[in-house]
Amino acid sequence: MKIAVVGAGVTGLTLSAGFAELGHTVRCVDGDSGKIAQLSQGIVPYREPGLESLVLRNVAAGRLGFGNEPSGVLNEAELLFIAVGTPADERGDMSLASLWKVIDRIEAWPDDGRKRLIAISSTVPVGTAERTESRLRGRLTGRCEAEVVSIPEFMREGRAVRDFFEPTRIVIGAVSAEAADRLTQLHRRLPGPIVTTDRRSAELAKLAANACLAVKISFANEMAAFAEQVGADYPSVAQSLGLDPRIGPYFLEAGLGFGGSSMPRDTHALVRMADDAGAPQTLVEAAVRANAMLPLRMVRKLEAALSDPGRRKVALLGLACKPGTDDMRDAPSLRLIAELNRRHPGIALTAYDPEAGAVARKILPASVAICESAEEALRGADAAIVVTGWSEFRQIQAEDFKSWMSRPIIMDGRNVLDAAGLNAQGVVCIGVGRLPSIPGPSSRKAGELAL
Ligand SMILES: NC(=O)c1ccc[n+]([C@@H]2O[C@H](COP(=O)([O-])OP(=O)(O)OC[C@H]3O[C@@H](n4cnc5c(N)ncnc54)[C@H](O)[C@@H]3O)[C@@H](O)[C@H]2O)c1
Repeated sequence: MKIAVVGAGVTGLTLSAGFAELGHTVRCVDGDSGKIAQLSQGIVPYREPGLESLVLRNVAAGRLGFGNEPSGVLNEAELLFIAVGTPADERGDMSLASLWKVIDRIEAWPDDGRKRLIAISSTVPVGTAERTESRLRGRLTGRCEAEVVSIPEFMREGRAVRDFFEPTRIVIGAVSAEAADRLTQLHRRLPGPIVTTDRRSAELAKLAANACLAVKISFANEMAAFAEQVGADYPSVAQSLGLDPRIGPYFLEAGLGFGGSSMPRDTHALVRMADDAGAPQTLVEAAVRANAMLPLRMVRKLEAALSDPGRRKVALLGLACKPGTDDMRDAPSLRLIAELNRRHPGIALTAYDPEAGAVARKILPASVAICESAEEALRGADAAIVVTGWSEFRQIQAEDFKSWMSRPIIMDGRNVLDAAGLNAQGVVCIGVGRLPSIPGPSSRKAGELAL
Protein backbone atom coordinates (compact mmCIF):
# COMPACT_ATOMS: atom_id res chain seq x y z
CA MET A 1 0.00 0.00 0.00
CA LYS A 2 1.05 3.58 -0.51
CA ILE A 3 0.69 5.27 2.83
CA ALA A 4 1.18 8.86 3.91
CA VAL A 5 1.53 9.88 7.53
CA VAL A 6 1.13 13.49 8.56
CA GLY A 7 2.95 14.36 11.76
CA ALA A 8 6.45 13.12 12.54
CA GLY A 9 6.13 13.15 16.31
CA VAL A 10 6.86 9.91 18.17
CA THR A 11 3.45 8.59 17.11
CA GLY A 12 3.62 9.47 13.41
CA LEU A 13 7.26 8.47 13.04
CA THR A 14 6.72 5.12 14.73
CA LEU A 15 3.65 4.43 12.56
CA SER A 16 5.63 5.43 9.45
CA ALA A 17 8.66 3.29 10.19
CA GLY A 18 6.48 0.43 11.46
CA PHE A 19 4.34 0.24 8.33
CA ALA A 20 7.47 0.58 6.17
CA GLU A 21 8.97 -2.38 8.03
CA LEU A 22 5.81 -4.35 7.17
CA GLY A 23 6.61 -3.73 3.50
CA HIS A 24 4.51 -0.68 2.63
CA THR A 25 5.77 2.46 0.95
CA VAL A 26 5.45 5.29 3.42
CA ARG A 27 5.92 9.02 3.09
CA CYS A 28 5.99 10.87 6.39
CA VAL A 29 5.40 14.61 6.26
CA ASP A 30 5.63 17.24 8.94
CA GLY A 31 5.09 20.98 8.93
CA ASP A 32 8.29 21.47 10.94
CA SER A 33 10.95 21.82 8.27
CA GLY A 34 13.77 21.56 10.85
CA LYS A 35 12.49 18.14 11.92
CA ILE A 36 12.18 16.97 8.33
CA ALA A 37 15.71 18.21 7.57
CA GLN A 38 17.01 16.20 10.53
CA LEU A 39 15.07 13.07 9.56
CA SER A 40 16.26 13.38 5.96
CA GLN A 41 19.84 13.38 7.28
CA GLY A 42 19.17 10.24 9.32
CA ILE A 43 18.83 12.04 12.63
CA VAL A 44 15.90 10.84 14.75
CA PRO A 45 15.04 13.65 17.16
CA TYR A 46 13.52 11.41 19.88
CA ARG A 47 14.98 9.13 22.51
CA GLU A 48 12.70 6.23 21.82
CA PRO A 49 14.15 2.71 22.13
CA GLY A 50 14.55 1.03 18.74
CA LEU A 51 13.08 3.90 16.71
CA GLU A 52 16.30 5.21 15.19
CA SER A 53 17.40 1.85 13.80
CA LEU A 54 13.89 1.12 12.51
CA VAL A 55 13.77 4.46 10.69
CA LEU A 56 17.29 4.18 9.23
CA ARG A 57 16.75 0.59 8.05
CA ASN A 58 13.58 1.49 6.18
CA VAL A 59 14.98 4.69 4.68
CA ALA A 60 17.94 2.64 3.40
CA ALA A 61 15.54 0.07 1.93
CA GLY A 62 13.72 2.85 0.05
CA ARG A 63 10.40 2.19 1.78
CA LEU A 64 10.37 5.31 3.97
CA GLY A 65 10.81 8.92 2.93
CA PHE A 66 10.21 12.35 4.41
CA GLY A 67 8.88 15.65 3.21
CA ASN A 68 7.27 18.81 4.46
CA GLU A 69 4.77 19.47 1.73
CA PRO A 70 1.61 17.57 2.52
CA SER A 71 -0.47 18.25 -0.59
CA GLY A 72 1.56 16.04 -2.99
CA VAL A 73 1.57 12.97 -0.76
CA LEU A 74 -2.08 13.38 -0.01
CA ASN A 75 -2.76 13.02 -3.70
CA GLU A 76 -0.71 9.86 -4.15
CA ALA A 77 -1.49 7.92 -1.00
CA GLU A 78 -4.36 5.47 -0.78
CA LEU A 79 -4.30 5.74 2.95
CA LEU A 80 -3.48 8.81 4.95
CA PHE A 81 -2.77 8.61 8.67
CA ILE A 82 -3.11 11.80 10.63
CA ALA A 83 -0.88 11.83 13.70
CA VAL A 84 -0.49 15.54 14.37
CA GLY A 85 -0.49 16.86 17.91
CA THR A 86 -3.77 17.65 19.65
CA PRO A 87 -2.43 19.51 22.68
CA ALA A 88 -4.51 21.09 25.40
CA ASP A 89 -5.35 24.71 24.65
CA GLU A 90 -5.34 27.49 27.27
CA ARG A 91 -8.69 26.23 28.63
CA GLY A 92 -7.35 22.69 28.83
CA ASP A 93 -9.45 21.47 25.90
CA MET A 94 -7.97 19.41 23.08
CA SER A 95 -6.96 21.68 20.24
CA LEU A 96 -7.84 20.43 16.77
CA ALA A 97 -6.08 23.36 15.04
CA SER A 98 -3.37 21.12 13.52
CA LEU A 99 -5.90 18.58 12.31
CA TRP A 100 -7.97 21.27 10.56
CA LYS A 101 -4.80 22.66 8.96
CA VAL A 102 -4.10 19.26 7.44
CA ILE A 103 -7.66 18.80 6.22
CA ASP A 104 -7.72 22.29 4.72
CA ARG A 105 -4.61 21.44 2.66
CA ILE A 106 -6.44 18.65 0.91
CA GLU A 107 -7.45 20.50 -2.21
CA ALA A 108 -5.96 19.08 -5.33
CA TRP A 109 -7.05 15.49 -4.97
CA PRO A 110 -7.08 13.92 -8.42
CA ASP A 111 -10.54 13.09 -9.70
CA ASP A 112 -9.73 9.41 -10.31
CA GLY A 113 -12.71 7.86 -8.54
CA ARG A 114 -10.50 5.94 -6.09
CA LYS A 115 -11.70 5.92 -2.53
CA ARG A 116 -9.12 7.28 -0.10
CA LEU A 117 -9.07 6.52 3.60
CA ILE A 118 -8.16 9.18 6.09
CA ALA A 119 -7.31 7.51 9.37
CA ILE A 120 -7.19 9.69 12.47
CA SER A 121 -4.59 8.30 14.87
CA SER A 122 -4.32 11.46 16.95
CA THR A 123 -6.28 11.41 20.18
CA VAL A 124 -9.38 13.50 19.56
CA PRO A 125 -12.78 14.32 21.11
CA VAL A 126 -15.70 12.02 20.37
CA GLY A 127 -17.31 13.05 17.08
CA THR A 128 -14.12 14.36 15.45
CA ALA A 129 -14.09 11.83 12.59
CA GLU A 130 -17.61 12.93 11.62
CA ARG A 131 -16.65 16.60 11.82
CA THR A 132 -13.55 15.90 9.73
CA GLU A 133 -15.58 14.18 7.06
CA SER A 134 -18.07 17.07 6.88
CA ARG A 135 -15.23 19.57 6.62
CA LEU A 136 -13.60 17.52 3.89
CA ARG A 137 -16.80 17.08 1.92
CA GLY A 138 -17.14 20.84 1.81
CA ARG A 139 -13.75 21.00 0.09
CA LEU A 140 -13.65 17.99 -2.20
CA THR A 141 -15.44 18.12 -5.48
CA GLY A 142 -16.08 15.75 -8.35
CA ARG A 143 -15.89 11.98 -7.93
CA CYS A 144 -13.22 12.13 -5.20
CA GLU A 145 -14.30 9.76 -2.54
CA ALA A 146 -12.91 9.67 0.98
CA GLU A 147 -13.91 8.00 4.21
CA VAL A 148 -12.61 9.22 7.52
CA VAL A 149 -11.90 6.41 9.96
CA SER A 150 -10.84 6.49 13.58
CA ILE A 151 -7.87 4.37 14.59
CA PRO A 152 -6.69 5.64 17.97
CA GLU A 153 -3.14 4.94 18.92
CA PHE A 154 -2.41 3.14 22.20
CA MET A 155 1.38 3.06 21.97
CA ARG A 156 3.23 4.22 25.06
CA GLU A 157 6.14 6.59 25.00
CA GLY A 158 9.36 4.82 25.93
CA ARG A 159 8.11 1.60 24.30
CA ALA A 160 6.42 2.91 21.17
CA VAL A 161 8.22 0.58 18.74
CA ARG A 162 7.50 -2.47 20.83
CA ASP A 163 3.87 -1.43 21.15
CA PHE A 164 3.58 -0.98 17.38
CA PHE A 165 4.76 -4.54 16.70
CA GLU A 166 3.04 -6.07 19.73
CA PRO A 167 -0.10 -3.99 20.18
CA THR A 168 -2.41 -4.72 23.10
CA ARG A 169 -5.29 -4.10 20.68
CA ILE A 170 -6.04 -2.36 17.40
CA VAL A 171 -9.28 -0.40 17.43
CA ILE A 172 -10.79 0.44 14.05
CA GLY A 173 -13.80 2.74 13.91
CA ALA A 174 -15.29 2.91 10.42
CA VAL A 175 -18.56 3.48 8.63
CA SER A 176 -18.18 1.10 5.71
CA ALA A 177 -17.26 -2.57 5.91
CA GLU A 178 -14.83 -1.96 3.05
CA ALA A 179 -12.85 0.63 5.06
CA ALA A 180 -12.80 -1.61 8.15
CA ASP A 181 -11.60 -4.45 5.95
CA ARG A 182 -8.78 -2.48 4.37
CA LEU A 183 -7.48 -1.41 7.76
CA THR A 184 -7.83 -4.93 9.13
CA GLN A 185 -5.76 -6.19 6.20
CA LEU A 186 -3.12 -3.55 6.85
CA HIS A 187 -2.72 -4.79 10.43
CA ARG A 188 -3.00 -8.50 9.72
CA ARG A 189 0.69 -9.19 10.34
CA LEU A 190 0.55 -7.63 13.79
CA PRO A 191 -0.39 -9.93 16.67
CA GLY A 192 -2.87 -7.75 18.60
CA PRO A 193 -6.61 -8.44 18.68
CA ILE A 194 -8.66 -6.17 16.43
CA VAL A 195 -11.79 -4.43 17.67
CA THR A 196 -13.92 -3.22 14.79
CA THR A 197 -16.55 -0.68 15.71
CA ASP A 198 -18.06 2.67 14.78
CA ARG A 199 -16.04 5.89 14.84
CA ARG A 200 -17.43 7.41 18.04
CA SER A 201 -16.80 4.24 20.02
CA ALA A 202 -13.22 4.08 18.74
CA GLU A 203 -12.61 7.69 19.77
CA LEU A 204 -14.13 7.08 23.20
CA ALA A 205 -12.16 3.83 23.64
CA LYS A 206 -8.95 5.87 23.70
CA LEU A 207 -10.19 8.51 26.13
CA ALA A 208 -11.78 5.88 28.36
CA ALA A 209 -8.50 3.92 28.54
CA ASN A 210 -6.58 6.93 29.82
CA ALA A 211 -9.38 7.86 32.22
CA CYS A 212 -9.44 4.32 33.62
CA LEU A 213 -5.66 4.37 34.17
CA ALA A 214 -5.90 7.78 35.84
CA VAL A 215 -8.53 6.45 38.24
CA LYS A 216 -6.31 3.46 39.05
CA ILE A 217 -3.31 5.68 39.74
CA SER A 218 -5.25 8.05 41.99
CA PHE A 219 -6.77 5.09 43.81
CA ALA A 220 -3.24 3.82 44.48
CA ASN A 221 -2.05 7.20 45.73
CA GLU A 222 -4.98 7.75 48.07
CA MET A 223 -4.67 4.21 49.41
CA ALA A 224 -0.92 4.81 49.96
CA ALA A 225 -1.68 8.01 51.92
CA PHE A 226 -4.13 6.04 54.05
CA ALA A 227 -1.56 3.28 54.58
CA GLU A 228 0.92 5.88 55.82
CA GLN A 229 -1.59 7.16 58.38
CA VAL A 230 -2.41 3.72 59.77
CA GLY A 231 1.09 2.26 59.64
CA ALA A 232 0.51 -0.18 56.77
CA ASP A 233 2.86 -0.84 53.86
CA TYR A 234 1.12 0.15 50.60
CA PRO A 235 3.50 -1.74 48.22
CA SER A 236 2.60 -4.95 50.05
CA VAL A 237 -1.08 -4.04 49.71
CA ALA A 238 -0.56 -3.30 45.99
CA GLN A 239 1.26 -6.59 45.53
CA SER A 240 -1.67 -8.39 47.06
CA LEU A 241 -4.20 -6.42 44.97
CA GLY A 242 -2.22 -7.15 41.80
CA LEU A 243 -2.38 -10.88 42.36
CA ASP A 244 -6.16 -10.71 42.07
CA PRO A 245 -6.83 -11.33 38.37
CA ARG A 246 -9.95 -9.19 38.53
CA ILE A 247 -7.76 -6.21 39.44
CA GLY A 248 -4.48 -6.95 37.67
CA PRO A 249 -0.99 -5.84 38.67
CA TYR A 250 -0.55 -2.71 36.56
CA PHE A 251 -0.91 0.96 37.40
CA LEU A 252 -1.17 0.33 41.11
CA GLU A 253 2.08 2.06 42.02
CA ALA A 254 1.89 4.97 44.41
CA GLY A 255 4.12 7.94 43.68
CA LEU A 256 3.96 11.45 42.34
CA GLY A 257 1.00 10.74 40.11
CA PHE A 258 0.30 10.95 36.42
CA GLY A 259 1.45 13.55 33.95
CA GLY A 260 2.68 13.61 30.37
CA SER A 261 1.13 14.88 27.20
CA SER A 262 -1.98 12.73 27.24
CA MET A 263 -3.43 11.63 30.58
CA PRO A 264 -4.04 15.10 32.09
CA ARG A 265 -5.40 16.36 28.77
CA ASP A 266 -7.58 13.33 28.07
CA THR A 267 -9.11 13.19 31.54
CA HIS A 268 -9.90 16.90 31.40
CA ALA A 269 -11.42 16.60 27.92
CA LEU A 270 -13.48 13.59 28.93
CA VAL A 271 -14.85 15.30 32.03
CA ARG A 272 -15.90 18.39 30.04
CA MET A 273 -17.44 16.43 27.19
CA ALA A 274 -19.31 14.17 29.57
CA ASP A 275 -20.62 17.19 31.50
CA ASP A 276 -21.85 18.73 28.26
CA ALA A 277 -23.49 15.44 27.34
CA GLY A 278 -25.25 15.25 30.72
CA ALA A 279 -23.31 12.19 31.91
CA PRO A 280 -20.87 13.57 34.53
CA GLN A 281 -17.76 11.49 35.15
CA THR A 282 -17.42 12.09 38.88
CA LEU A 283 -14.89 9.31 39.36
CA VAL A 284 -12.55 10.72 36.74
CA GLU A 285 -12.98 14.23 38.15
CA ALA A 286 -12.03 12.96 41.59
CA ALA A 287 -8.98 11.19 40.14
CA VAL A 288 -7.80 14.46 38.59
CA ARG A 289 -8.30 16.35 41.86
CA ALA A 290 -6.44 13.67 43.83
CA ASN A 291 -3.57 13.78 41.36
CA ALA A 292 -3.23 17.55 41.69
CA MET A 293 -2.65 17.18 45.46
CA LEU A 294 0.42 14.97 45.14
CA PRO A 295 3.20 17.56 44.68
CA LEU A 296 2.00 19.43 47.79
CA ARG A 297 1.85 16.19 49.73
CA MET A 298 5.46 15.46 48.75
CA VAL A 299 6.61 18.97 49.74
CA ARG A 300 4.90 18.57 53.12
CA LYS A 301 6.74 15.30 53.65
CA LEU A 302 10.00 17.03 52.80
CA GLU A 303 9.17 19.78 55.32
CA ALA A 304 8.63 17.14 57.98
CA ALA A 305 12.05 15.63 57.28
CA LEU A 306 14.10 18.78 56.66
CA SER A 307 13.89 21.99 58.66
CA ASP A 308 13.69 25.30 56.81
CA PRO A 309 13.82 23.99 53.20
CA GLY A 310 13.90 27.59 51.88
CA ARG A 311 17.53 27.77 52.97
CA ARG A 312 18.55 24.34 51.75
CA LYS A 313 19.75 22.63 48.61
CA VAL A 314 17.48 19.91 47.30
CA ALA A 315 18.35 17.55 44.44
CA LEU A 316 15.69 16.20 42.09
CA LEU A 317 16.44 12.79 40.61
CA GLY A 318 14.46 12.49 37.39
CA LEU A 319 12.45 15.09 35.49
CA ALA A 320 10.83 13.22 32.57
CA CYS A 321 7.18 12.30 32.93
CA LYS A 322 8.20 8.64 33.08
CA PRO A 323 11.32 6.51 32.63
CA GLY A 324 12.40 5.71 29.07
CA THR A 325 11.61 9.11 27.54
CA ASP A 326 12.86 12.69 27.54
CA ASP A 327 9.27 13.98 27.37
CA MET A 328 8.55 16.58 30.03
CA ARG A 329 5.14 17.73 28.80
CA ASP A 330 2.96 18.27 31.87
CA ALA A 331 5.41 16.16 33.88
CA PRO A 332 4.83 15.83 37.64
CA SER A 333 8.35 17.31 38.07
CA LEU A 334 7.06 20.67 36.76
CA ARG A 335 4.28 20.83 39.35
CA LEU A 336 6.65 19.71 42.10
CA ILE A 337 9.21 22.40 41.21
CA ALA A 338 6.45 25.04 41.15
CA GLU A 339 5.22 23.91 44.57
CA LEU A 340 8.75 23.85 46.06
CA ASN A 341 9.42 27.38 44.78
CA ARG A 342 6.00 28.63 45.91
CA ARG A 343 6.33 27.39 49.49
CA HIS A 344 10.08 27.92 49.81
CA PRO A 345 11.21 30.79 47.57
CA GLY A 346 14.86 30.56 48.64
CA ILE A 347 15.26 26.85 47.94
CA ALA A 348 18.26 25.85 45.77
CA LEU A 349 17.29 23.10 43.32
CA THR A 350 19.59 20.86 41.33
CA ALA A 351 18.26 18.20 38.97
CA TYR A 352 19.47 15.25 36.97
CA ASP A 353 17.60 13.15 34.44
CA PRO A 354 19.32 10.47 32.31
CA GLU A 355 17.48 11.64 29.15
CA ALA A 356 15.59 14.88 29.71
CA GLY A 357 18.50 17.24 30.53
CA ALA A 358 18.40 19.06 27.18
CA VAL A 359 14.61 19.47 27.28
CA ALA A 360 14.80 20.63 30.90
CA ARG A 361 17.34 23.34 30.05
CA LYS A 362 14.85 24.79 27.58
CA ILE A 363 11.76 24.79 29.77
CA LEU A 364 12.80 25.03 33.42
CA PRO A 365 13.64 28.32 35.14
CA ALA A 366 17.37 29.08 35.20
CA SER A 367 17.24 28.79 38.99
CA VAL A 368 17.10 24.97 38.63
CA ALA A 369 20.66 23.77 37.99
CA ILE A 370 20.52 20.91 35.47
CA CYS A 371 23.35 18.47 36.13
CA GLU A 372 25.10 15.86 34.02
CA SER A 373 25.02 13.10 36.63
CA ALA A 374 23.23 12.04 39.79
CA GLU A 375 26.47 12.59 41.67
CA GLU A 376 26.71 16.21 40.48
CA ALA A 377 23.09 16.89 41.50
CA LEU A 378 23.48 15.22 44.89
CA ARG A 379 26.81 16.83 45.86
CA GLY A 380 26.23 19.07 48.88
CA ALA A 381 22.44 18.54 48.82
CA ASP A 382 20.49 18.55 52.08
CA ALA A 383 17.83 16.26 50.66
CA ALA A 384 16.90 14.56 47.41
CA ILE A 385 13.57 13.67 45.85
CA VAL A 386 13.26 10.79 43.39
CA VAL A 387 10.80 12.24 40.89
CA THR A 388 11.03 9.77 37.98
CA GLY A 389 11.56 6.07 38.59
CA TRP A 390 14.64 5.55 36.41
CA SER A 391 16.21 2.21 37.30
CA GLU A 392 19.72 3.71 37.26
CA PHE A 393 18.91 5.45 40.56
CA ARG A 394 18.88 2.01 42.16
CA GLN A 395 22.61 1.76 41.45
CA ILE A 396 23.39 4.61 43.84
CA GLN A 397 24.80 3.07 47.01
CA ALA A 398 24.18 4.17 50.59
CA GLU A 399 27.85 5.15 50.80
CA ASP A 400 27.44 7.40 47.74
CA PHE A 401 24.44 9.21 49.24
CA LYS A 402 26.32 9.65 52.50
CA SER A 403 29.55 10.90 50.98
CA TRP A 404 28.03 13.16 48.29
CA MET A 405 25.21 14.78 50.26
CA SER A 406 25.36 17.16 53.23
CA ARG A 407 22.55 15.12 54.79
CA PRO A 408 21.46 11.82 53.29
CA ILE A 409 17.70 12.40 53.28
CA ILE A 410 15.92 10.84 50.30
CA MET A 411 12.24 11.24 49.55
CA ASP A 412 11.63 8.34 47.17
CA GLY A 413 8.65 9.63 45.20
CA ARG A 414 8.53 6.49 43.05
CA ASN A 415 9.41 3.75 45.53
CA VAL A 416 12.31 2.59 43.37
CA LEU A 417 14.98 2.49 46.07
CA ASP A 418 15.54 -0.19 48.67
CA ALA A 419 14.40 1.97 51.57
CA ALA A 420 14.98 -0.71 54.22
CA GLY A 421 18.52 -1.40 52.99
CA LEU A 422 19.38 2.30 52.81
CA ASN A 423 17.85 3.04 56.20
CA ALA A 424 19.87 0.22 57.75
CA GLN A 425 23.02 1.91 56.42
CA GLY A 426 22.30 5.35 57.83
CA VAL A 427 20.44 6.94 54.90
CA VAL A 428 17.00 8.37 55.65
CA CYS A 429 14.88 7.05 52.77
CA ILE A 430 11.17 7.81 52.88
CA GLY A 431 8.97 6.20 50.25
CA VAL A 432 5.32 6.70 49.36
CA GLY A 433 2.97 4.68 51.54
CA ARG A 434 5.85 2.48 52.46
CA LEU A 435 6.98 1.13 55.80
CA PRO A 436 10.76 1.64 56.08
CA SER A 437 11.27 -1.81 57.60
CA ILE A 438 9.78 -3.73 54.63
CA PRO A 439 12.36 -4.70 51.97
CA GLY A 440 12.12 -2.62 48.80
CA PRO A 441 11.94 -3.78 45.16
CA SER A 442 15.66 -4.35 44.70
CA SER A 443 15.81 -6.79 47.58
CA ARG A 444 12.69 -8.74 46.60
CA LYS A 445 13.00 -11.69 44.31
CA ALA A 446 12.53 -10.89 40.62
CA GLY A 447 8.88 -11.07 39.63
CA GLU A 448 7.74 -10.85 43.22
CA LEU A 449 6.51 -7.32 42.72
CA ALA A 450 4.88 -7.29 39.33
CA LEU A 451 4.01 -3.61 39.33
N1 LIG B 1 3.25 10.20 21.97
C1 LIG B 1 2.58 9.10 22.28
O1 LIG B 1 3.12 8.17 22.86
C2 LIG B 1 1.12 8.96 21.88
C3 LIG B 1 0.47 7.76 22.14
C4 LIG B 1 -0.85 7.62 21.74
C5 LIG B 1 -1.50 8.68 21.12
N2 LIG B 1 -0.84 9.85 20.91
C6 LIG B 1 -1.56 10.94 20.22
O2 LIG B 1 -1.02 11.06 18.92
C7 LIG B 1 -0.98 12.45 18.53
C8 LIG B 1 0.44 12.85 18.20
O3 LIG B 1 1.23 12.70 19.37
P1 LIG B 1 2.80 13.01 19.37
O4 LIG B 1 3.26 12.84 20.77
O5 LIG B 1 3.47 12.24 18.31
O6 LIG B 1 2.73 14.58 19.01
P2 LIG B 1 3.88 15.63 18.73
O7 LIG B 1 3.29 16.95 19.09
O8 LIG B 1 5.15 15.20 19.35
O9 LIG B 1 4.09 15.56 17.17
C9 LIG B 1 3.13 16.02 16.26
C10 LIG B 1 3.84 16.43 14.97
O10 LIG B 1 2.85 16.93 14.09
C11 LIG B 1 3.40 18.02 13.36
N3 LIG B 1 2.31 18.86 12.84
C12 LIG B 1 1.44 19.61 13.53
N4 LIG B 1 0.59 20.20 12.70
C13 LIG B 1 0.92 19.81 11.44
C14 LIG B 1 0.39 20.09 10.15
N5 LIG B 1 -0.69 20.87 10.01
N6 LIG B 1 0.98 19.54 9.08
C15 LIG B 1 2.03 18.73 9.22
N7 LIG B 1 2.58 18.43 10.42
C16 LIG B 1 2.02 18.97 11.52
C17 LIG B 1 4.28 18.73 14.38
O11 LIG B 1 5.27 19.52 13.77
C18 LIG B 1 4.86 17.55 15.16
O12 LIG B 1 6.08 17.13 14.62
C19 LIG B 1 -1.59 13.22 19.69
O13 LIG B 1 -2.95 13.39 19.50
C20 LIG B 1 -1.35 12.29 20.86
O14 LIG B 1 -2.25 12.52 21.92
C21 LIG B 1 0.45 10.01 21.26
